[in-house]
Amino acid sequence: MSYVQMWKGRDFLNTNDFTQEEITQILDAADDLRNKYRSMVPTNYLPGRTIFLLFYNESLRTRNSFEAGMFQLGGHAHFVRANDLYTPSLPEDMVAYKTEAVSDVARVMSRFGQAIAIRIYGDAAKWIIGRGHKIMELFAKWSSIPVINMEDDVYHPTQALADMQAARTARPKLQGKKFVVSYAYSGGLKPLAVPQSEALITTQMGMDVVLAHPKGFELDDNIVKACKANAEKYGGSFEISYNMKEAFEGADFVYPKAWSPKQFMMPYGPKVDKDGANAYQNKYKDWIVNTELLEKSGKPYYMHCGPADRGQEVTDDVLDSYENSLYFDEAENRLHTEKAVMAMTMP
Ligand code: CP
Repeated sequence: MSYVQMWKGRDFLNTNDFTQEEITQILDAADDLRNKYRSMVPTNYLPGRTIFLLFYNESLRTRNSFEAGMFQLGGHAHFVRANDLYTPSLPEDMVAYKTEAVSDVARVMSRFGQAIAIRIYGDAAKWIIGRGHKIMELFAKWSSIPVINMEDDVYHPTQALADMQAARTARPKLQGKKFVVSYAYSGGLKPLAVPQSEALITTQMGMDVVLAHPKGFELDDNIVKACKANAEKYGGSFEISYNMKEAFEGADFVYPKAWSPKQFMMPYGPKVDKDGANAYQNKYKDWIVNTELLEKSGKPYYMHCGPADRGQEVTDDVLDSYENSLYFDEAENRLHTEKAVMAMTMP
């Protein structure tokens, strides 16, 4: 296939490192791989290759889709339970594996296989936002094989790709469609990676994007700036709303998802404060999505990266019977879009 190894050796850390045309090329490759998967056509494009999956956090979708995907490409995915093997209190360049430096681990693994994929955020990055991404960049700096971001504390780019594949399957022309990235209530401290990557990729696709959240749930200033620049460059728009119901009106897609106010994480706030975040979030329990709201809003497509918190972010009826839910398509597309990224970048 023409896309196989077309960007041999290239890292995949953030969708905004790629142009709109390049994102479209990945989505086209993912569509091809999805067609072949569904008709059981073999896709033995990376025979004998190995990808190392370093998980500093738990996962259902990401781990299983990368493992299944690499097998379907003819190679092997080697799972590393990295969170058992490092000490988060060490300096960020020393956290990789027990007491080994990132520079050493990246270079050792580069001698064994053809890609390293990493997930690191939250407790694993001490809730110091940017620390997980810095570790990701350090791996990329020292590795001689591609590094793929399986979610850090700033970006979740493979999720964003899967979501765009689902969105453009539902509505083939994304340019000018209204896409709402919204806060939805949940307890616990949650990273900003998903809403930030969704806002980035949707503005990159030229959509009319509304970011809806209560005051205090602002995304990082640099991300907001990048979204505005994307909107300008790709002919869409980017607006902020503080009212979920108003934002949903006339939307083509809604993406209601919990994240936590950044003031309760470092370096935005003076300390990591899980109780403070919970108390603040608990004021917004009415930011929940149900079928009635979606129907009144004009039946937009419902989207969520999963796992959705039932009874907090969304009611059961949406996940189980709302006709315009893309929830399980997005999960499936993790497989096809990750296969596309691996096939395109791995040597
Ligand atoms: N959406 C997502 O990344 O899911 P997992 O945490 O299950 O991998």
